[in-house]
Amino acid sequence: MALETKIYKNLDPKEIAELGSRLRAGELVAIPTETVYGLGANGLDEEAMSRIYEAKGRPSDNPLILHVPDQASVTPLVKEISPTAKQLMDAFWPGPLTIILPKSDNVPLRATGGLDSVAVRCPAHDVCRAILQAAGVPVAAPSANISGRPSPTTADAVYHDMAGRIEAIADAGPCEVGVESTIVECGDDAVTILRPGGITDAMLRQVVSTVTFDEALSAPDVAPKAPGMKYKHYAPDGVMTTYVGVPKLISEAMIEAMEAIQKEHEELVSQEGKTSIAKPLRFGFLINEEVAQFLDIYLADLPVPFEFVIYGNAADYRGLAHSLYSSLLAFNEAKVTHIFATGVPRQGLGRAIMNRMDKASGYNVVNAVPKRD
Ligand code: TXA
Ligand code: MG
Repeated sequence: MALETKIYKNLDPKEIAELGSRLRAGELVAIPTETVYGLGANGLDEEAMSRIYEAKGRPSDNPLILHVPDQASVTPLVKEISPTAKQLMDAFWPGPLTIILPKSDNVPLRATGGLDSVAVRCPAHDVCRAILQAAGVPVAAPSANISGRPSPTTADAVYHDMAGRIEAIADAGPCEVGVESTIVECGDDAVTILRPGGITDAMLRQVVSTVTFDEALSAPDVAPKAPGMKYKHYAPDGVMTTYVGVPKLISEAMIEAMEAIQKEHEELVSQEGKTSIAKPLRFGFLINEEVAQFLDIYLADLPVPFEFVIYGNAADYRGLAHSLYSSLLAFNEAKVTHIFATGVPRQGLGRAIMNRMDKASGYNVVNAVPKRD
């Protein structure tokens, strides 16, 4: 039977205390963080965590991140905190950095997908930390979406996927960063990035000498160290293509693709006549200002209805990270059939963004650069 999903919007001390008790008691509560909304459950309660997997339709070998309000709360969850791990916490917590550490016996295997390590993170979000304080237990929280769909960055998006499956949602408005935390494994004065995110390799290099990326991030046939990275993720309903390169050439490549899609659609409809089962075309654009300028005139006469998001200029990585998932979800709502998106160079936050865009578009990335002959 569907649950009643209560939405908390005031988030005053009384509501925070209530949300904390619900978590402690084994209920599922969606919580805001600076990256994306999390689907929270008591991280010491196996039954509560089993319900997370059920609500999301998540594969059971994909471990959860335990969220804590401060460094001190990590101590009972791990065997030890190495000097490097401590340095990372001092430098980046609270913030979008998840650290993998050897787990203590207090942490149930249900949280770690059977692994002997545990992922811990202290979010930079006041409401989130207040709820974690009130709960008084570590809170296991994957992103609050149905597995495989884009992660939610608003309470509405959480409600869309989770209504009737969870007890409560804490609505604290849109998430700031928009892509999930960076996940690292620690060595001695070294880290390996298992998932790129808001804390970039350059930022990590200011604290530890050696920063490397998990080989699996650039070699699709290698098994990733973060089990969740092997799954298809963030997929919108429409067919998505990501374009990188020179704005004018990107606009030309998009126009060429749009014409081919329209032509193919017309042929299908004319073959099948009035009984055609071809879905009506609808385009979605998630693009930068430079490309938008080149597309302006073409779009004014486009016979296909479309949705349009300009996230900022070509150098606005933060704008793109912030708009990515919310735009993909808005395109789903509008029944967009084809998505045309512009990406960014794979550096800094661009690595995290392109990792998500690669998966969202099924690695369908067009490099629009001048041809050399
Ligand atoms: O920003 C975030 O990290 C968000 C918010 C809600 O905090 N959470 C999030 O959780 O993205 P989720 O469950 O969608 O992703 C967790 C990732 C998965 O890829 C999982 O495999 C990896 O963390 N992970 C968890 N525990 C691990 C461990 N012990 N070793 C390696 N990878 C681990
Ligand atoms: Mg997720």
